[in-house]
Amino acid sequence: MGTSSYLAFLTALSVFTALFAIIYQAYLASNDLKTLTVILQNLKNLEHQYAVHRPRVAIGYGSCSDLYVKAVNFLNFTDNLEHLLRQKTFAVDDINTEDDFLQSFAYYFQRGAAAERFTVNRELFQNLVKLAKKSSSAEPRWALGGNAPVIGSRLAAEGAEVLLGAKMSSKLKSHLKADITLTGSLITDDDIHLILEYKTGDEWGSLRTPRANRYILHNDHHNPYLSSLDEFEQGLQGFNPHLFVVSGLQMMDNYVYEPGVRENLLKKVSNQMQAQSTDALVHFEMASFVELELLQLLLRHVVPYSDSIGMNEQELDNLRHVLETGKISLVADCNPRVAQSLDQARAVIRILNEDYFRHHVTNPKRRMLSRIHLHTLAFQAILVVGGSKWNHTKNAAAKASLTAHRHVCASQIVNPDAAYRLLDDSFASSLQDGSTRIPFTEHDPVSCWNETIITNEPSHRLDVEICVAPVLICKVAKQTAGAGDNISGAGLILQI
Ligand SMILES: *[C@@H]1O[C@H](CO)[C@@H](O)[C@H](O)[C@H]1NC(C)=O
Ligand SMILES: *[C@@H]1O[C@H](CO)[C@@H](O)[C@H](O)[C@H]1NC(C)=O
Ligand SMILES: *[C@@H]1O[C@H](CO)[C@@H](O)[C@H](O)[C@H]1NC(C)=O
Ligand SMILES: *[C@@H]1O[C@H](CO)[C@@H](O)[C@H](O)[C@H]1NC(C)=O
Repeated sequence: MGTSSYLAFLTALSVFTALFAIIYQAYLASNDLKTLTVILQNLKNLEHQYAVHRPRVAIGYGSCSDLYVKAVNFLNFTDNLEHLLRQKTFAVDDINTEDDFLQSFAYYFQRGAAAERFTVNRELFQNLVKLAKKSSSAEPRWALGGNAPVIGSRLAAEGAEVLLGAKMSSKLKSHLKADITLTGSLITDDDIHLILEYKTGDEWGSLRTPRANRYILHNDHHNPYLSSLDEFEQGLQGFNPHLFVVSGLQMMDNYVYEPGVRENLLKKVSNQMQAQSTDALVHFEMASFVELELLQLLLRHVVPYSDSIGMNEQELDNLRHVLETGKISLVADCNPRVAQSLDQARAVIRILNEDYFRHHVTNPKRRMLSRIHLHTLAFQAILVVGGSKWNHTKNAAAKASLTAHRHVCASQIVNPDAAYRLLDDSFASSLQDGSTRIPFTEHDPVSCWNETIITNEPSHRLDVEICVAPVLICKVAKQTAGAGDNISGAGLILQI
């Protein structure tokens, strides 16, 4: 072979290799699309397997008016901030100044962790809201907010009859679905939540975020006092809910009260929970808490009277940390592995139920924690104690997964082309040695299995069913705030 023909051969070979690579990539992509399409179809089949029998759901507490902005377009990264970040002395959950706020935002943004923080500085807050409204590059928009109205709206949309414990302005009320009964009176000044949203890979100054999420700043004055509580109490008379949902208590986090006021409010919540009939199920939607004292009050007054807890990976990590070490954890891995998360959920359900086993005889109002719903970016996991009243766990996990995609993509239609998944073909069920690997197939995408959790209370074992559904993650996130609430509502509706 002469040199020139040898070169020609090489050129042809590299062209062929390049072509082959392109075709092979396309082949892989189309295969992946095929898999996603099959997963989607099977998730939908599970979602629609059982009809919803118009359950009655009562849900508290509070509401707000959400002002959404694009975080990186709205906030200005300053030299001063760069300087503060280099000092690495983050201690900002008390937000008093604009620098505190920017530093706090930077902390969570870098880690892609959801956060919800209170500022005592009303002037700072009002100024930020004023600027947000005017900033066209931040693309401000308003929506009905608050955990209770969002969970309630999702449940109503899925066919529940909803009684809502919240006060709101008539303007905000007009965003509420007609089939939701509002128990609270009308007010003139809704609490506002400034929601700073960001997408995966968004850059802000020298910082870059690993995943889409949101940071919420607020200066509530109705919600920390659970001002809807008494009117909700009246509305509950004769309603006999099948499900009672407690949410929005994170608005009491970091707020400054007169001594004893907060605990008294939580005792009232506790009484409302304990007043529910034994036929009713009680769900507590966790949230982002940074104050240890508040979490301890919740563990005393709220959690023992809950059948179920809903949370994301940060909240689960925090709860487990508090139960095991007595300390708060501010951020956790924003993309935890299934095995790690399930181990945390096992620890939480075990520790809380050991407490139940020890005390339920002397306090018959206590409820066994029989359900945990963990919502994460990559998967939905639901643990249910065997023999409890929760139905259709597998279907609920599927519905929660679909709702996650629909909400984040802001589209009722789930398009496999707009989705990707992070869950592999199989996953370890635990980080413990000798744990089983759970296979994952597109034809049966929600993996469920039974196992026994050994407790430290002699003669008490916990038989649980665990279901894990992959999320068809939305490629281009349109909204992340409110995702957890929609997902929790969707998971609950099929289980009651
Ligand atoms: C950031 O700067 C722009 C342009 O000067 C301004 O419009 C915007 O309000 C500023 N944002 C904040 C939060 O101050
Ligand atoms: C979640 O709830 C909010 C408020 O009710 C609503 O605007 C949004 O569309 C919901 N998401 C889905 C997927 O329905
Ligand atoms: C788990 O056990 C329950 C009975 O306690 C049974 O109904 C259910 O089908 C089991 N689930 C799996 C996945 O084996
Ligand atoms: C579970 O399903 C059964 C049969 O469909 C139903 O009778 C029961 O009320 C459901 N459980 C709950 C807690 O709603």
